[in-house]
Amino acid sequence: MFSHERIIIRRGPESGLPIIVAVHSTALGQALGGCRLKPYADWRDGLADALRLSAAMTDKCALAGLPNGGGKTVIVGEHSPAALRDAGAVIEELGGTYATGPDIGTGPDDMVTIGERTSHVFCRPVAAGGSGDSSPGTAVGTVAALRAVCSDRFGSSSLAGRSFSVLGLGRVGGRVARLLAEAGSKLVVADVDPAKRALADDLGAGWVTPEEALTAAVDVVVPAALGGVLTPSSVAALRCAAVAGPANNQLDARATAGLLHERGILWAPDYVVSAGGVIAATAVELRHESPAQVTARLDGIADTLAGVFAAARRDGVTPSAAAAAEARRRVASPRG
Ligand code: PHE
Repeated sequence: MFSHERIIIRRGPESGLPIIVAVHSTALGQALGGCRLKPYADWRDGLADALRLSAAMTDKCALAGLPNGGGKTVIVGEHSPAALRDAGAVIEELGGTYATGPDIGTGPDDMVTIGERTSHVFCRPVAAGGSGDSSPGTAVGTVAALRAVCSDRFGSSSLAGRSFSVLGLGRVGGRVARLLAEAGSKLVVADVDPAKRALADDLGAGWVTPEEALTAAVDVVVPAALGGVLTPSSVAALRCAAVAGPANNQLDARATAGLLHERGILWAPDYVVSAGGVIAATAVELRHESPAQVTARLDGIADTLAGVFAAARRDGVTPSAAAAAEARRRVASPRG
């Protein structure tokens, strides 16, 4: 089903690169979604990512209780100021119906460059008047989600002594691993970048390959890198009690949520887990909230997730289906 409001695909006049901006929904308000910059093999792969990721942002904002819809920018190619300015120009044409922020391949400094063409951009560095890196908020929200998962699965929200496998030690995953280590969790970690091993050693975490991390015998597997890690074959090989992490689009297809459910593995919908970045950025930049208010909002992710798990049990459906149904309800009745 075609459900997007608007998609712009353009060869950037400055960079020559494909620039894709997908606005999925503005039913609840301005669409939000980061700018992903990646040298996809084919621009159509970038388009597919933009379509999926923008739809997920609609669900993310709806379940986070934000007055916002979902969108996404994808730049297909290598990083350059020209490409970022090209993206900014497209975003500016949308006249404020969509605003961007950082995502995989972009960071706060890049938001300044995008900001040369448009004001509809979150997460510029604090020195440049923005709320800065969104990763700390995403990581704190993820840990709140992990507490809710442990509470549901093991009857206690304590992270101490629980075992986790963190897949991906990037800006978000690295912070999640550190917070878990500080909470006294047992950790194995993996990253495609061998240089990240230093962080593993620093945290006293076991270093394994990404394949081993996914199938590790731990309480919770935490996908914190690229999407698509949960497939029929990988789900069959899992040895954990739950999967919950901030990576966007973890399921290769919706039906895979059913396979997790059949195996008795609790899956926390990724768009609920990863909402901390957009929650914190909008709380600071739009609502000028205090750090304590922002922390309370991030902790609220635990309650949202607990609500999803409860609804899933009540209705006899997967958490994925329960979260999607709740998102649909909220988008359908903006003031409800
Ligand atoms: N990458 C963020 C996400 O997936 C997007 C974002 C963060 C957008 C902060 C706006 C502000 O949620």
